[in-house]
Amino acid sequence: MSKIFELQCVLCGKRYREGEVEYTCPSCGMDGTLDVLYDYDVARKAISREALAQNRDYSLWRYWPILPVHERDHVPPLSVGWTPLYESDRLAAQYGVKRLFIKDDGRNPTGSLKDRASAIAVGRALDLGRKEVSCSSTGNAASSLAGFCTVASLRSTIFVPESAPEAKVTQLLVYGARVVLVKGDYNDAFNLSEKAIERFGWYNRNCAINPYLVEGKKTCGLEVAEQLGWEVPDYLFVAVGDGCIISSFYKAFHDLIKLGITDRMPRIVGVQAEGCKPLVEAVKRGEFRVKAFEKADTIADSIAVRRPRNWAKALRAVRESQGTMVSVSDGEILSAIRELACNTGVFAEPAGAASFAGFRKMALSGQLRQDETAVVVVTGNGLKDISSARKAVGDPIVSPPDIEAFVRILSRVKGLA
Ligand SMILES: Cc1ncc(COP(=O)(O)O)c(C=O)c1O
Ligand SMILES: [Zn+2]
Repeated sequence: MSKIFELQCVLCGKRYREGEVEYTCPSCGMDGTLDVLYDYDVARKAISREALAQNRDYSLWRYWPILPVHERDHVPPLSVGWTPLYESDRLAAQYGVKRLFIKDDGRNPTGSLKDRASAIAVGRALDLGRKEVSCSSTGNAASSLAGFCTVASLRSTIFVPESAPEAKVTQLLVYGARVVLVKGDYNDAFNLSEKAIERFGWYNRNCAINPYLVEGKKTCGLEVAEQLGWEVPDYLFVAVGDGCIISSFYKAFHDLIKLGITDRMPRIVGVQAEGCKPLVEAVKRGEFRVKAFEKADTIADSIAVRRPRNWAKALRAVRESQGTMVSVSDGEILSAIRELACNTGVFAEPAGAASFAGFRKMALSGQLRQDETAVVVVTGNGLKDISSARKAVGDPIVSPPDIEAFVRILSRVKGLA
């Protein structure tokens, strides 16, 4: 069945046919990000609770009728999606909510939720006959794109800030990408990538620019709903940088409502770091616009975004879902990494644990009720940034390879002997 969709500008509402524009709204410029809208009457015939119950494809491609890739042959050969959704009774009881779920998206092939967008980017680049793809990133989208390009025999050129964690830069190099370390922050990397993409005519995988990528990311929200047996949670917590991921959860529930599969949205709560919270401030001011933060200062490198590019979609997600934005300190993020790992086994990178820190903060301040269900999305794997994680934990015991020496050392270790 052919997929029919239109693109609609989030600011002016103008609609475009597929192919008429590829990236943002020509009338509104870069801020005019586009929504991909399907013919939901057509899609409803192909995607339903019953059809999904029969579907054995446990990857993001199970939602094929509402994904913007045309040719099945262009699906890259890496398994993405259908990541675990763990329930934690212990943490639910501790924080006074009815049920708490952790969606571990660090389990994707390159270790972050960004793989969902890269799968779509590569599929579309192949649909369009493109040979070279590029993006800027705080690190995860970069390493993800590099991995997907290499399996699809596409060339990638990736721009990351010079300060990106070593594991992410190494991952990029291992995948054979052409890696550019930009002397500056993510904003500088983004600006340089946009100029280079224009100059060299590469396919643009910058998520805030390319409307199709949020479609890949939305599959995380679709999975959450499906894994919960279509019971929409009351709250969903997710870390926010540019604002694409949070927009994708809004889009997931928007599409499910349009398809008649579910009938409401969770309250979507975006979490930013204290040291870089332009969207938290916009919500506090009650404004539908964002002011760039002067300087980003946080260990959560993935969300150190001074000037969120997808601000309009992010603020809409919060407003229309009756959610909110909260900020958490680096100390809260570090303790969240440890608490999450110790209680659920899920090891998150700082941005990935920020969502849990946000949940904890709202629960402790009495903003969540005992009859409510919350989902915390872990967007990136802890192995991506071990030097931050080391700050959250103590030192290991060092022992010579001798049992008597080990027993003596152990007896001195407080609380363990
Ligand atoms: C692990 C992780 N969490 C959250 C985010 C924030 O996503 P967005 O920039 O779409 O708001 C990112 C983006 O790089 C990320 O890598
Ligand atoms: Zn517009």
